[in-house]
Amino acid sequence: MQSNEQRKRIGVFCSGGDAPGMNACLRAVVRRGIAKKLNIIAIHRGFQGIFDEAFEKMTPRSVGNILQLGGTIIKTARCKKFYSIEGVLEAVTILKKHRLDGLIAIGGDGTFRGLLELKKLWDGQVIGIPGTIDNDIFGTDYTIGYDTAIDTVIQMLDRIRDTAESHERAFVVEVMGRHTGFIALKVGIGCGAEEVLIPEHTIDLETVARRVKVAQKRGKKSIIIIVAEGVSKGNIFDFCNRLTTQKGLEFQTHISILGHVQRGGSPSALDRWLATRLGAFAVDCVLKGDTGIMVGEQNLQLVKIPLEDTQKKKPIDSYAYEIIHDLAI
Ligand code: F6P
Repeated sequence: MQSNEQRKRIGVFCSGGDAPGMNACLRAVVRRGIAKKLNIIAIHRGFQGIFDEAFEKMTPRSVGNILQLGGTIIKTARCKKFYSIEGVLEAVTILKKHRLDGLIAIGGDGTFRGLLELKKLWDGQVIGIPGTIDNDIFGTDYTIGYDTAIDTVIQMLDRIRDTAESHERAFVVEVMGRHTGFIALKVGIGCGAEEVLIPEHTIDLETVARRVKVAQKRGKKSIIIIVAEGVSKGNIFDFCNRLTTQKGLEFQTHISILGHVQRGGSPSALDRWLATRLGAFAVDCVLKGDTGIMVGEQNLQLVKIPLEDTQKKKPIDSYAYEIIHDLAI
């Protein structure tokens, strides 16, 4: 029989922005791992936790009652030190000192870039699990947290619609998504937005302003314009000002920035399902000897894709974008 000492030691951590379902995923990694005779070591605060040697040996009880919790109990961080070769080399020394055989990282494209760098200098196994509300990871249809974030934003937008309709107002609502429009597009469809502005499509402010005026003339009492943060680039006030002061097409708006509310909350059923399956599957991949991969889901099937591919640009659903204006007539 294998002694505890001989068992593979696998680290698990969350990195980048937190996302609902990270805890469910952690629970699955820990429990599937222990059930399969692995030692699972949680690393607190992402890559930074390697430098801080913030390691915790997990037991099945360490992840009790967390499945339904938002955020991540092992914390997360963005770690600049890992961008440098010296940083990666230091991390390798620490991983060797703690006799780790592999790492499972739950995060986004930045996290996977870190894993790719690590793989060049370390012979341990590296496996990524897509966890970000942005859903911007190539190779997986969905990322952990996206579904919950969409539900959260749609709830907020329904409330905005109530007040917008009562006061006959136009609202510009900024949503997260970093450089992509996956959140904006899906919530735009979900709340019947009149306009959805995303970085993947060129935006002509004059055309948008004209369409708003026409919609108002057609008798629309409320207008919701969703702006992905990749379009407003950190200054929604300036962007909105440019939009609403188009010559001859001026109109009034209220601005609403949803912000970090989008990242919190208890994971949806879909996120719990995705997170749990991906977490367990990542462990199975470790047992098979895989490395340099991300686990994901395509057409409802669990898949493995090379980590390099996660750096490609994920295409947006052009059909969904195309139908928005027809549905808002
Ligand atoms: O990647 C998730 C995300 O919420 C993005 O949508 C957003 O641009 C970013 O993180 C914000 O990060 P922070 O909380 O570190 O400012």
